[in-house]
Amino acid sequence: MIAGRKLYKAHCALCHFADAAILKVGPGMKGLFKQQKLALSGLTVSEENVRKRIEEGNPDPQKPLMPAYRDILTAKEMDDLIAYLKTL
Ligand code: HEC
Repeated sequence: MIAGRKLYKAHCALCHFADAAILKVGPGMKGLFKQQKLALSGLTVSEENVRKRIEEGNPDPQKPLMPAYRDILTAKEMDDLIAYLKTL
């Protein structure tokens, strides 16, 4: 959890609030796993879909960009990050 929070601060907080659901650059992450659907993409909230979004980022130049974290975070870091997101 603490590892996940550090990772979040280092990689995600720039663009996503952790303590609000409102938009910063991307949608706020507060209550992420308590929602039915992801705010922007409308995907069902599941660990699999959230991971996919983080791994792939948003490469669509029509929308605000999010980097892909597939090659940035290790598998362990991704697990820690997901564990942290579940607490928001
Ligand atoms: C440079 C800004 C930026 C950074 C850094 C960033 N994101 Fe994003 N993120 C975005 C934007 C913009 C979107 C919305 C993209 C879209 O319109 O599809 C997004 C979308 C998402 C979504 C999907 C939301 C939805 O409704 O579908 C998740 C989950 C997410 N980000 C998590 C993270 C996590 C976790 C990190 C850190 C590892 C991170 N993001 C880093 C900008 C960022």
